[in-house]
Amino acid sequence: MPEPIILGLESSCDDTAAAVLRGRKILSSVVMGQTELHAAFGGVVPEIAARAHAEKLDLAVEQALSEADLPLSGIDAIAVTAGPGLIGGVLSGVMLAKGLAAGLGKPLVGVNHLAGHALTPRLTDGLAYPYLMLLVSGGHCQFLIVRGPQDFTRLGGTIDDAPGEAFDKTARLLGLPQPGGPSVEKAAQAADETRFKFPRPLLDREGCDLSFSGLKTALLRMRDKLVEAQGGLHEADRADLCAGFQAAVRDVLAEKTRRALALYLAESPAVPAFAIAGGVAANQAIRGALETLCAEHGVTFTAPPLRLCTDNAAMIAYAGGELLAKGKTSDMGLSARPRWPLDREAAPLLGSGKKGAKA
Ligand code: KG4
Ligand code: ZN
Repeated sequence: MPEPIILGLESSCDDTAAAVLRGRKILSSVVMGQTELHAAFGGVVPEIAARAHAEKLDLAVEQALSEADLPLSGIDAIAVTAGPGLIGGVLSGVMLAKGLAAGLGKPLVGVNHLAGHALTPRLTDGLAYPYLMLLVSGGHCQFLIVRGPQDFTRLGGTIDDAPGEAFDKTARLLGLPQPGGPSVEKAAQAADETRFKFPRPLLDREGCDLSFSGLKTALLRMRDKLVEAQGGLHEADRADLCAGFQAAVRDVLAEKTRRALALYLAESPAVPAFAIAGGVAANQAIRGALETLCAEHGVTFTAPPLRLCTDNAAMIAYAGGELLAKGKTSDMGLSARPRWPLDREAAPLLGSGKKGAKA
């Protein structure tokens, strides 16, 4: 039997996305961002996001079908993000998916947005279960052992900010452009990471939970002290602050990854693999440290391309395909869920991230 062609829809945050996949082959992937709509507000405004999704979703679907060169009737199933995320946007997606599924008489599959991110290394690199995953972006930060499309063990996560959020705040405090990650990384190049003593939050506590909000407070104090002493910041001060901050994030992520790897390897996986996903995975210092760590442990290191790490619908279609193959379809009672933790056994996370509560 040929592999089914799946239409995926994603609208849980500030990207309206549609994609068409056949198995692991991406026939099209359309992402319509909303950055400019929210720019003046310093974060995503849920009502604005919901309205934009409602306006753009069908356009995204039309474009995805046209790029895949398929009529709507060529679709075998519809996969949609049913949570977690901003409820108005998730509802827009779920309603459209239900309408399409009912109209076409094709199966509907509700997908957890985080499962979409977590299964991406299977879409891009065909990783075998179980693998260890670190999701690090502006909205997410958690370690997961991925065992199946609905089987995840969360080993730990941030108790406050996501690392990308901390990079963005650092850039803002130092007058560097947004998004903060790339500007901080650039400023940190060839700077002295040891001049300012940043804390390494939560390393004294056992386990894989992380915290990043203290780094921002430390940076604010160091900046204000310099401004008070010398009337402003020199270029070298800015660079050294960025380097010190980045080194702290790198060290914390590396140590917590070392602990997560130990827990994962204790299960003796047949083909040990680690995947990092999310915008922060683009950071060369962080990526390099984690790559080295994996090499030391004989674990394959994988980092999906950035366009598939950031919010997109290809990951939703792919995850939907895995669920469909297991017969896990949804009915018309599928509801939109603002919260939907991947690991129901794990204690709820406290952190929510700038883009709203995620899990
Ligand atoms: O995954 P992503 O594109 O979006 C969501 O958070 O949903 O992640 C964006 C985050 C931003 O906070 C950005 O500053 C951070 O990833 N980022 C980086 C780098 N490039 C992007 N952080 C550190 N270093 C980078 N090179
Ligand atoms: Zn996401």
